[in-house]
Amino acid sequence: MYTTSELQQIIEKAIPAIEYPKHPKDLYEPITYIMNLGGKRLRPALVLIAADLFNGDIDEALPAALAIETFHNFTLIHDDIMDNAPLRRGKTTVHEKWGTNNAILSGDVMMVEANKQLAKVDSVFLKDVLNTFNATAQGVCEGQQLDMEYETRDDVSISAYIEMIRLKTAVLVGGAMKLGAIIAGADEYERELIYQFGENLGIAFQLQDDILDVFGDPEKFGKQIAGDIIANKKTFLLLKLQELANEKDANKLKLQFVNTDLKDKIGQITALYEHYKIRDLAAEEMKTYLDKAFTALEKIQVAPTQKATLIQLSNELMNREH
Ligand code: IPE
Ligand code: IPE
Ligand code: MG
Ligand code: MG
Ligand code: MG
Repeated sequence: MYTTSELQQIIEKAIPAIEYPKHPKDLYEPITYIMNLGGKRLRPALVLIAADLFNGDIDEALPAALAIETFHNFTLIHDDIMDNAPLRRGKTTVHEKWGTNNAILSGDVMMVEANKQLAKVDSVFLKDVLNTFNATAQGVCEGQQLDMEYETRDDVSISAYIEMIRLKTAVLVGGAMKLGAIIAGADEYERELIYQFGENLGIAFQLQDDILDVFGDPEKFGKQIAGDIIANKKTFLLLKLQELANEKDANKLKLQFVNTDLKDKIGQITALYEHYKIRDLAAEEMKTYLDKAFTALEKIQVAPTQKATLIQLSNELMNREH
């Protein structure tokens, strides 16, 4: 049994050791740039934690962990293009530094690199690993498509939002853990339970991301504050506000969607969030999904100390600042 920090150290060492060709420079430089910008390394850690939970060999799960982190970073490059984001992990985004066309192509090749990592997995597990990885990657694309479509809609329900974040964010968290379980030789029931844990954790994780997008500390968050407000993203915060606002405030909110004075727009919408105590409601929603995650975890038959690690990590994630 490894501690979370031991597993994180293994990942921190392995990521800079992944080698990419040197040429063409503008294809590969963005990859080493984003992969070495830091980041929490949550998903690869979860691959290894899940493998360890089911008494698997960490070295055997490491390529899957690297594949997942490479895939995640690829989605971030493309997400930043779609979200028109200037900052990632406190630094200039890839598309702003190298241009959009380069960012698209570097992202594409990262997907290939992720597959190369997966090909290192023991052939006994490879089919299940590929099926899980592919289902995950496709889910992320579906979620990202919905996320974009919702920007221009004003009839999005909270359940449609939850389904959207389940796809864009949570299936990857669940998928990461399922990969670890597969490689550890866990049975179908255990794989499903750890997936359920990860998926619900992922939903809670995205809710916290939406909260931080508005209320985070710009020094610590590492991304542009209020990017979601600027882009008219249909986050839980916005949808809850739409649900609770009286007629006057609802009209005020509607006007903000077309307000081109961005500073004013951010100020107005944030003030409405504060008035309706939306942050607390979002935190409550987050807790609901965290509890669902823990319910799935309870059903897994492993030593309580092993589960304690996951519970602690989950709670830390809900209190994170970036
Ligand atoms: C960012 O993920 C994308 C979301 C799903 C919110 P992380 O918050 O895990 O980003 P890094 O990898 O730690 O930078
Ligand atoms: C993250 O959604 C989803 C993916 C990257 C697939 P966001 O757009 O909220 O992520 P951040 O806030 O830019 O990291
Ligand atoms: Mg984004
Ligand atoms: Mg996005
Ligand atoms: Mg976000």
